[in-house]
Amino acid sequence: MDADSARRQRTVTNEAESYPTRRLLPLRDAVGLHAGTSRIVAARRQGTAVEAAFELNAFMAAPYAKLTEALLGQNQIAHFRDGDELIIYGSGAERFADMLHADLRRPMAEGLLNPRERRALPVLQALFTSLIPRSKPRGEILAFSVPAAAPGRETALKHHEATLKELFQGMGYGSVAVNEGLAVVLSELEDDNLTGIGISCGAGMCNATLALLSIPVVMVGILGGGDHIDAAVGAVINEHASRVKLMKEEGGVDLTRPPGDTFERALRIYYEELVNTLVDGLRRALAATGTSSRVDRGVPIVLAGGTATARGFRDLFERALEDRPLPLQVSSIRLASEPLTATARGVMAAATYAG
Ligand SMILES: Nc1ncnc2c1ncn2[C@@H]1O[C@H](COP(=O)(O)OP(=O)(O)O)[C@@H](O)[C@H]1O
Ligand SMILES: [Mg+2]
Repeated sequence: MDADSARRQRTVTNEAESYPTRRLLPLRDAVGLHAGTSRIVAARRQGTAVEAAFELNAFMAAPYAKLTEALLGQNQIAHFRDGDELIIYGSGAERFADMLHADLRRPMAEGLLNPRERRALPVLQALFTSLIPRSKPRGEILAFSVPAAAPGRETALKHHEATLKELFQGMGYGSVAVNEGLAVVLSELEDDNLTGIGISCGAGMCNATLALLSIPVVMVGILGGGDHIDAAVGAVINEHASRVKLMKEEGGVDLTRPPGDTFERALRIYYEELVNTLVDGLRRALAATGTSSRVDRGVPIVLAGGTATARGFRDLFERALEDRPLPLQVSSIRLASEPLTATARGVMAAATYAG
């Protein structure tokens, strides 16, 4: 070890020992928003508790008719009129699309604004407005999650982030973007001095971030997640991806037992592929930044996101690590205490301390 990295290590160790983890007090009430490919989750501090709410990040369009509009209103299904169409969004859209055998559309794809969806912005705005109030007084801080850029997506990420900031500004909020993997660290690793690897596996992407004392050091974005699994399994069993999604979510996914049929076998294959790709990406990024010399003890890994809630996901991840060891020591691997809201909670924590 050279003198420089020895000094760095010492510094990190000293900071860790004096870091007042348990005495951090929130500076302000704040709102955190996780804009995921399939769900938008908002978290707010209410007194000492944190309240989380979510909406499906999806919509469908139907031809405008007064009668349909009245029906939607009576049934309290979120909608707005856009020209000669009615846009039905959020969880209500899923029910409606299923009844009408219509396609659900998505404002986002693979973690970012969906470039093929011209209605993306008005729908996102409606979804955000339904989950969080307008800021009063003007300029309250809202923090929102952004994925790490997958290779080749750097400019698209810039556009995504800037566009969301504009939307939040329109709602009266000053906003800060928080990396998604870091958000998992912030919500789950307070007892570890906000040091470790936070991973979020959602619908469109998997994000992984190594943070040292709350500072993100390595951020990895992998294309692929639940949506990719749905499409791949659907192709094998000749079903629509949306059907596979429902089968997964309603039946639950159990990766701990041997697959019993073609559906389960396909699920296992694509879950394994996803986890291996994620671990490979993380391993390469850690090796490329030479982080191991800055970490002198084992780091914990926390897994969050809807895709990580499959039974046995943690074990699958652990096995992938055995075949593909990371260039640093791992002290533990666990599932987040609340995998579906971990990112939003962490983002809210970041908003709490934003200046
Ligand atoms: N019980 C479940 N079992 C397996 N997969 C699930 C379950 N619940 C949700 N998912 C999957 O998790 C993904 C959504 O996770 P989420 O973290 O909300 O994603 P995002 O943040 O990308 O919107 C979807 O692919 C969904 O099908
Ligand atoms: Mg997510």
